Amino acid sequence: MLRICNSLLFAVLLATPMAAQSLDSLLARMTLEEKLGQLNLLSANGRASPQQIQLARDGKLGGLFNVIGAENSGAVQRVAVTESRLKIPLLFGLDVIHGYRAIFPIPLGEAASFDPDAAEATARAAGQEAAAFGINWTYAPMVDIARDPRWGRIAEGSGEDPYLGSLMAAARVRGFQQNIFATVKHFAGYGAAEAGREYNETEISQRTMREVYLPPFKAAVDAGVASLMSAFNDISGVPASGNAWLTDTVLRREWGFSGFVVSDWTSVAELINHGVAGSQAEAGRRALTAGVDMDMQSSIYVDSLAALVRSNRIPMAVVDSAVMRILRAKLRLGLFRDPYRARTAPPNTELRALARRVAGESIVLLKNEPVGRGAACCAPTLPLSKSATIAVIGPLADNKEEPLGPWHTQGRAEDVVTVLQGIKAKVPAGTQVVYAQGAGIEDTATAGFAAAVAAARQAKVAVLVLGERGDMSGEAASRASLGLPGVQQQLLEAVAATGTPVVLVLMNGRPLILEWASDHVPAIVETWFLGIEAGNATADVLFGDVNPSARLPVTFPRVLGQVPIYYNRRNTGRPPDPNNKYTSKYIDVPVTPRYPFGFGLSYTTFSYGNLRLSAARARARDTVTATVTVTNTGSREGTEVVQLYVRDEVASVSRPLRELKAFRRVTLKPGESKAIDLPIAVKDLWFIGLDMKPVVEPGMFRVYVGPNSAEGQEATFECIP
Ligand code: BGC
Repeated sequence: MLRICNSLLFAVLLATPMAAQSLDSLLARMTLEEKLGQLNLLSANGRASPQQIQLARDGKLGGLFNVIGAENSGAVQRVAVTESRLKIPLLFGLDVIHGYRAIFPIPLGEAASFDPDAAEATARAAGQEAAAFGINWTYAPMVDIARDPRWGRIAEGSGEDPYLGSLMAAARVRGFQQNIFATVKHFAGYGAAEAGREYNETEISQRTMREVYLPPFKAAVDAGVASLMSAFNDISGVPASGNAWLTDTVLRREWGFSGFVVSDWTSVAELINHGVAGSQAEAGRRALTAGVDMDMQSSIYVDSLAALVRSNRIPMAVVDSAVMRILRAKLRLGLFRDPYRARTAPPNTELRALARRVAGESIVLLKNEPVGRGAACCAPTLPLSKSATIAVIGPLADNKEEPLGPWHTQGRAEDVVTVLQGIKAKVPAGTQVVYAQGAGIEDTATAGFAAAVAAARQAKVAVLVLGERGDMSGEAASRASLGLPGVQQQLLEAVAATGTPVVLVLMNGRPLILEWASDHVPAIVETWFLGIEAGNATADVLFGDVNPSARLPVTFPRVLGQVPIYYNRRNTGRPPDPNNKYTSKYIDVPVTPRYPFGFGLSYTTFSYGNLRLSAARARARDTVTATVTVTNTGSREGTEVVQLYVRDEVASVSRPLRELKAFRRVTLKPGESKAIDLPIAVKDLWFIGLDMKPVVEPGMFRVYVGPNSAEGQEATFECIP
């Protein structure tokens, strides 16, 4: 309801003729310098510097980012709206990615929930909290599709799938924009960085761009996102921050986007390094005329473009359009009426409860096998008993900093509940919990192993909390090896060698290579970086108070040499066949991933049966509903993520083996069965045809419904002309 009210409010403001008129007359009164000033965005260091305050006074600033606290933003806003000639308010931006101070799971982890409502809820709460501290604009959601786990920024997005990514993008935009403006980023193709190397060039065909990388941006635009951020990378030689095809043809002409585009940090100046501009002025001209309205941190528009406009090398109309987009955004946000936008943060208890719930929903159970022989053999390792002695081991077990993950803005280590604390809070006073760090995250020394081994020997089970530092993913954090850092692998092996059953709890911002653990450790729990409630949410799952329901939003490879590996690949002319050497595979490792996209276990089991489609034949305007009966065949209540994939069997262009087209989270009691409907709008089965236009071609479509991208029941229908 709130959502509707807000968008209505925005619509009314936009439609008010008075408002539009007054913006026109405002523009008419602006000098060229003041116009270029609106396109200037600078980073503060917590508060505006004296020079930045002077720029605000002179009308040479459109916004600031990284101003922290309502007092600091209020102080410079006051200068802008009372001391500058035209009194135009400033935007205040910040990277509120997965929380302001109350930190929620990293976006990749949250995507594992397959629960867009959860993503909307955390984005709304983060936006509300940020707004209370003077922020009115976030640089999120990051919606870059990522197929390469070496790339550290995979942590910030929703993984490899355009459909899941689109739903998450729209949900986060809706959530943020109940309180602040959102920025969908990085437009576009940044996730395709070659070799997973940060900021690297990309080679993306127009078809792949439109089918894979652009859909989440389109979903964000359709959800009403206020702004887009142009990316650092080039696309086949054309940098995204000077790419008229992206920021004008596709974004504005095809999609009808009426908001504004902001560059990434100095990405306008970097056009010189890309080798597509010989000077600052030329870089600025290229970016602005391509449709990048606001220059983040290069100061090129404000410092170097006036002469080009005066000499008609940049038409004044281009400047005016960019300025109007910024002014309209400020109007839409309500800044002219209420430049300070005082807001109240949600209560801390509410933020913590939300953080714990969503963190619990983001944890993926990757493996859970029985240990022991004889009578004890048949109970899986998890959930743990609350009365048995537990050893808690590892560099991340009692670590308060790393669960915040990358991009945790105002998040504080002191707010974090560690796994050790979460476990201790869960068990009765009589249960012994023995802790040993074992090693630091990147240690090369093994001196701490003895204590860890001794702890494991005393215990019935050893919980090893291993993984990455929070800043080993995120920006500028590409890794060329995806194992556990430092001596953690040796620590794991040393503890496992005691014979005490091991539960491996992972904290990381990307898929890791888990071959040894997958073969030797009975239980593996992927927790990503869960934020302030990491320890409680992990303990909820370890002891079975929460039954894990998350599914991988990204493929986990077996070895690095398989990368890039993703589920929605094409068949090739020689699909892998173990009995035929001359087929598409490796001679040294299987082609299959270790854990496929969509995979995740539960403490119960589910069976699928009786898949049927509502029609055997359908036209492009129709909807075909797949119905499947899902049964909880275990002994606990649990939530299954029922996933529907489609393959276009014969088309003019080779199509992926499977593409996710629908999913539903379904909670079932033990023994309960439910018929689950999953509608497929045939129009959504489009692809980019030979003529480079979207098309749904007649022919057979195979539908798979199951628990992940590698399994499922099958049925077919025919699309008829
Ligand atoms: C990042 C963006 C971020 C911006 C502002 C850049 O380095 O690529 O994602 O929004 O900085 O902090």
